[in-house]
Amino acid sequence: MPRLVVISNRVAVPKARGVAGAQGGLAGALNSALKANGGIWFGWSGQETEEFTGSINYVKSSDGVTTATIDLETQDLDEYYNGYANSTLWPLFHYRIDLTKYEREFGKGYERVNERFAESALPLISDGDLVWVHDYHLMPMGERLRSMGVTNRMGFFLHTPWPPTNLFVSLPYHERLVRALLHYDLLGFQNDTWLDSFLHYCWKELGAEVNYDTGEVTVDGKTTIARAYPIGIDYDFFTAKGETGEARQASQRLLSSTRHRTAMIGVDRLDYSKGLPERLDGIARFFDRHPDRVRDLVFIQIAPPSREDIGSYQQIRETLEQKAGQINGARSEVDVVPIRYVNRGHTQEELYGFYRAAKIALVTPLRDGMNLVAKEYVAAQDPEDPGVLILSRFAGAAQQLDCDGEGALMINPHSADDISHNIRLALDMPLAERKVRYEKMIVTVREENVQRWTENFIEDLADTGQ
Ligand code: G6P
Repeated sequence: MPRLVVISNRVAVPKARGVAGAQGGLAGALNSALKANGGIWFGWSGQETEEFTGSINYVKSSDGVTTATIDLETQDLDEYYNGYANSTLWPLFHYRIDLTKYEREFGKGYERVNERFAESALPLISDGDLVWVHDYHLMPMGERLRSMGVTNRMGFFLHTPWPPTNLFVSLPYHERLVRALLHYDLLGFQNDTWLDSFLHYCWKELGAEVNYDTGEVTVDGKTTIARAYPIGIDYDFFTAKGETGEARQASQRLLSSTRHRTAMIGVDRLDYSKGLPERLDGIARFFDRHPDRVRDLVFIQIAPPSREDIGSYQQIRETLEQKAGQINGARSEVDVVPIRYVNRGHTQEELYGFYRAAKIALVTPLRDGMNLVAKEYVAAQDPEDPGVLILSRFAGAAQQLDCDGEGALMINPHSADDISHNIRLALDMPLAERKVRYEKMIVTVREENVQRWTENFIEDLADTGQ
């Protein structure tokens, strides 16, 4: 088995591991992938420095994963992380061209940081290593590394959606970015929808020859393979959390504080792609339609803040505070508060406990590459008395958890009526139906786990060019 060199912007350095906080699905998944395969994980330390030095900080953890991280300077963070990655690509890839900022400085910063990442990662790569680069921050890394003489097999995985061609072409220099991607041997997407959008772009804008059966994309005589690899959770690791006292206590805390009411939960990084204001509108609609049920239901939204230096994130935070306040103000009684809005992160043990205690989960992003909260919620359920998952049809996970209409309750996250209607269905769903739905979903969540995802990608990467 060749050694793995994983490169991503966000790295879970050992001291921070285990705290879900606002780290998102990528860091947790890569941590599991590396634990299983061994190897080195290179990326940003999360620290800011006055001047970039490129010096690498190594931490070897007890589970055999070595992290190698660099600090980035303020200008890099402004132009690359807060700029091109999270103010240009992130909103564009989530279909929000209304929020997408196109600044020349951002593009330059993105190129500069990718060059810096490549220079720093270069000495870590030995002959025969498989290089696996992750996410929209580092799309040009493969090209940079190739220009520095790296001939190893190199793969890239995109954790976000890939937008339709008509949206993607609004990005200045879109062609350059995609041509850079074609320097990888293998490109991975979360599902067929994002993969098809990418292939369509290559065919339409680059005149590529596309083989839809094998995923081969040929441009100017060079072939790259593009396929879908739906990411999963570390099922055994996560469910083992449920055996801990911390998880049981968290469950107990939630249950004793909600008593005769059904707890409904949402857990998301505080991001405009997650559909949080629309979710609250749906809940408000439910209370308006069923005023007699305000005492039956309590909604707990856990939303740790994220990317706080960016205006659109400050804006969404304000919007949510106002909305949660308005809904509670209009509907609370001295002993009943319908919405609990929590802005801090929780450990995986606590989250397991909360998921287990909550009889409904609302996972309603407007657009999401995959969404691992949906899968964790299912994994944490009691098979004898499982809760109901309400899931956006626009989450990548929808393709796996719909289960031909017998899995999650699928909703349109833009429709308050649809959310409200499905909350009522979930509240009134008989045990037998809850069990059938859970049993369908749990098979996918358990079998199509993060280990399977890693194996599938790595095997295909190792096979490229053979
Ligand atoms: C999403 C992205 C990841 C990112 C995570 C957390 O899941 O796909 O690349 O790491 O969000 O965001 P942050 O900006 O804190 O790394």
